[in-house]
Amino acid sequence: MSLKVRKLPGAPFGALVEGLEPAEFPSEDIVAAVRSALASHVLLVVRGHQPPSDHDLVRFAAAFGPLFDGGELFGISSPTKEILRLSSERNELGLESGPSAVTPLPWHTDYSYLPCAARETFLEAVRLPPGGGGRTWFANAYDAWESLSQTIHDRLDGLIAIHSIKGSGRYLSQDEQQAAQAGRAYKNPAVSYPGARVPARHPLAHRHPDTGRVALYVNSLVAGIEGWEPQDASELLEDLMVHATDEGRVYGHGWEEGDLVIFDDIGVIHRRDSSDPEQIRTMRQLSTMLNDDGLS
Ligand SMILES: [Fe+2]
Repeated sequence: MSLKVRKLPGAPFGALVEGLEPAEFPSEDIVAAVRSALASHVLLVVRGHQPPSDHDLVRFAAAFGPLFDGGELFGISSPTKEILRLSSERNELGLESGPSAVTPLPWHTDYSYLPCAARETFLEAVRLPPGGGGRTWFANAYDAWESLSQTIHDRLDGLIAIHSIKGSGRYLSQDEQQAAQAGRAYKNPAVSYPGARVPARHPLAHRHPDTGRVALYVNSLVAGIEGWEPQDASELLEDLMVHATDEGRVYGHGWEEGDLVIFDDIGVIHRRDSSDPEQIRTMRQLSTMLNDDGLS
């Protein structure tokens, strides 16, 4: 296997990777090459490969580190509990078979509402509506940090943010809130949606454990700052979110069936546009765990 890595044309970051076969067990060299490409580009769009089976995809992602049991976390029974299958497919009762793939999601980091957040995410488009459906948007959190002044760095470094899934909807536009509301009609009581989880703590300036690069670790799940008055925290967080999502550091991925996007969960935040709920859109998502939470 030899990888061809090219910068995504017209995007502020990210690379297109060809020659990677996730259906095959990756050698140490391949894992190192992918890690190196990820360290340089933060996000990789893998195209032109054979579609991996569920088992193959788990084996491929697990070569990068311990995986979340994403499917199991959401209460989905499957032989591959590491795969979180997001889909607009409905069961015989007309309810979602799993978490939605079509309702809009505000800027987030996978699993940052848990004490152990995601380190890398592998997100693959299995089935898409005509035209590909809504885009997934990524904002470069390293660039967000590096473009702040030393004075702001000194002010933010060492602060602990409280991540909670409650209230993240305030970052959706009015249209998105309506689409999210409409999607609730199909919620399946058998699916364990993550709304009720206890808040988690993460550093606002998050250092990648391998590269040492620092990211502005802020997203719509950040509900407050430890030791700060709610009003002061909310004003700062709103300013930081505007900075973090400046269009100059954002890439919108238009999906093609089979695309596997691998991204550094410290280095980007991401959000999802809505798609037509009457069309089938199915994604597979797996994430490695961030064992070093940066709080030591
Ligand atoms: Fe996500």
